Amino acid sequence: MKRLGGFFGFESKSMFANRSRPEKWKDIRFYGYARHGLMDLLQFTAAKKVYLSYYICDSVLEALQKSGVSYQFLPLNKKLQFKKIPRLKPGEYLYCVNYFGLQNSYVQDLSKRYRHQLIIDDCQNLMALNFPESHQIFSYRKWMGVENGAGLRTPLSIQQKKSVCRLSKGYSFLWNPDFYSDDFLYAKFLQAEKNVPNRVCVPHPKTVKKIQSFQYKKMQKARKRNFEFFMNNLKDYLFPGFEYSKEATPFCFPIQVSSMSSRSLLFSKKIYIPTLWLDVLNRDTQASKKFKFEKSLVSQLWPIPIDHRLTIKDCKRIVEELKKVLP
Ligand SMILES: Cc1ncc(COP(=O)(O)O)c(C=O)c1O
Repeated sequence: MKRLGGFFGFESKSMFANRSRPEKWKDIRFYGYARHGLMDLLQFTAAKKVYLSYYICDSVLEALQKSGVSYQFLPLNKKLQFKKIPRLKPGEYLYCVNYFGLQNSYVQDLSKRYRHQLIIDDCQNLMALNFPESHQIFSYRKWMGVENGAGLRTPLSIQQKKSVCRLSKGYSFLWNPDFYSDDFLYAKFLQAEKNVPNRVCVPHPKTVKKIQSFQYKKMQKARKRNFEFFMNNLKDYLFPGFEYSKEATPFCFPIQVSSMSSRSLLFSKKIYIPTLWLDVLNRDTQASKKFKFEKSLVSQLWPIPIDHRLTIKDCKRIVEELKKVLP
């Protein structure tokens, strides 16, 4: 049975072209991980405070803590947009996630308003529009089979330190996914996540080359096709409030399910729907009582995979299996 969804491995080899185009990447600074790009930016700008959503993974909060920047959570409305936006003082930033790449006009409005005081988290929006006045953070490893790799686009001229984040043997599982069981690979993946370096790193040059040679158009076409298939077959479940436009390259097809729905039957059929983000439930802060909606998203918003490894036949299998699980 084919694995549907989950992290990327060698199976996406066909998505890398033989030649890379470094000249097209002049405005991107590469980092090992998105959190490293954020740390470098915060350090360079001597940021004092960041406002952000509670619906976010802890790695972003850890980057803020390590950078000595204070932060404040802002509640989201049902469209996953900030309920109220703050008036920023110098040294303060708004950190906004473009959730699933389906909030493009919202992010555009924020960029017009906050300009250089907006940090856009485009980790779920790889083919993002360029907002030359704001800062944008990308994560390539969430979209393709690379060991690590993230990017920062900023109007500032940051001088990067050259400490190289070397390819580690811990990632060898990426190269032979057919040989091992999914459970074994997933355990290795989680281990690798624990070993993310604390200091700011840049990826190995070979990884950068892979990122630059990735066939973005091919990926985009497959994702749009799969999203539209789900739109036609699971429309009633689409999480309300997101906007799908032809320009978007969605990260997933987000559906709304009841809090009782379980992913385990789907896992047993090798359909891997990630949980975004368990950190939100485990976070024990005084503020946590205020963020019931954000906490409900962890169980009630399922990001259905639509990546380029999936064919329409695979999408049909996902729909069939989902319909057995959902009311
Ligand atoms: C929306 C979002 N932003 C940032 C990050 C951090 O990315 P990285 O693991 O590359 O540091 C993540 C990680 O999952 C994420 O989901």
